[in-house]
Amino acid sequence: EKGGFEHFMLKEIFEQPKSIADCMRGRLKAETGHLVLGGIREYAHKLDKAERIIIVACGTSWHAGLVAEYIFEDWCRIPVEVEYASEFRYRNPIINEGDIVIAISQSGETADTLAAIELAKSKGAIIFGVCNVVGSSIARLTHEGAYTHAGPEIGVASTKAFTAQLTVLGMMALKLGLRRGTLKESKFHELLVELESIPAKVEKALKSDSLIKKISEKFKDSKNFLYLGRGYNFPVALEGALKLKEISYIHAEGYPAAEMKHGPIALIDEEMPVVFIATQDSSYEKIVSNIQEVKARKGKVIAIVTEGDEIIPQMADYTIEVPATTEELMPLVSVIPLQLLSYHIAVMRDCNVDQPRNLAKSVTVE
Ligand code: F6R
Repeated sequence: EKGGFEHFMLKEIFEQPKSIADCMRGRLKAETGHLVLGGIREYAHKLDKAERIIIVACGTSWHAGLVAEYIFEDWCRIPVEVEYASEFRYRNPIINEGDIVIAISQSGETADTLAAIELAKSKGAIIFGVCNVVGSSIARLTHEGAYTHAGPEIGVASTKAFTAQLTVLGMMALKLGLRRGTLKESKFHELLVELESIPAKVEKALKSDSLIKKISEKFKDSKNFLYLGRGYNFPVALEGALKLKEISYIHAEGYPAAEMKHGPIALIDEEMPVVFIATQDSSYEKIVSNIQEVKARKGKVIAIVTEGDEIIPQMADYTIEVPATTEELMPLVSVIPLQLLSYHIAVMRDCNVDQPRNLAKSVTVE
């Protein structure tokens, strides 16, 4: 049932070209400009009029929420707040009329996310769910929503669910941006074409697997890792660090690259691997100087770059290329090498990658 793969996690990583395509199937067709999320109907007009979006989630799903924050603000011009469900539920959160809550959960059973939804509901909010497990508690509790259709995710570390969440949230934002008039029709069409091309790009990114395995060999005994990204790649840095710590038990931190000089730079020496997610986007030049800062302090740099980049490979110790795409969709592609890096390092350290210690697939207790 692992389809010839050694672990579920690896199978699920390699399934992503298909799971992302499955997520778009019947919903998106770039050729005709078709984009329909069948599960969002009755309350669609509430989304159209949303004055604020509050995203609640935990863990990897919360990282997907952070990417969605940037996307919704960019394409729909709606202010977005991304909340850890556990914090949101124990505050006295302000929910106004016209606010929309989006709950993201692979399992649909996460206790804190469930409780956050119940609280928001009791304050009159309309709640949209982005769940993977059909008929799960969260899916039943939300007013409407869209399933991610990634198929069962068995490995405890979330991989294909994350990229499917990004795909659904991207489709929601595209639709909304068009309906609100904040996204030009020409840009909408360009983005549809781009989103449709993502499975092929993920397929290409997966081809770096053997290179990533070789790089993993060099770093399997590291005690710490830093992951840095800017803009749309900042949540990817957080996700890369989470993947590594949960399955390899190596301490890792993700940071916005610019925050480095406000503290973490003190950690950098020749023992410190720093993973830069440094694809060619609007913050490219800035991240290039962050790489220089790390190299000046003898840190070891592993850089995720856009195919054909000629500058960063001259500075970094190791480079992994991913195909180019528009910056808003880059997390779908740039996260792939990070999933593989954590997987290989964990396997080399003899860790139980599918069932890491102390973790459960659905966290049904708070
Ligand atoms: C990370 C991971 C966890 C989950 C979190 C939320 O790989 O698996 O951080 O993302 O427990 O779970 P769901 O999405 O099921 O609500």
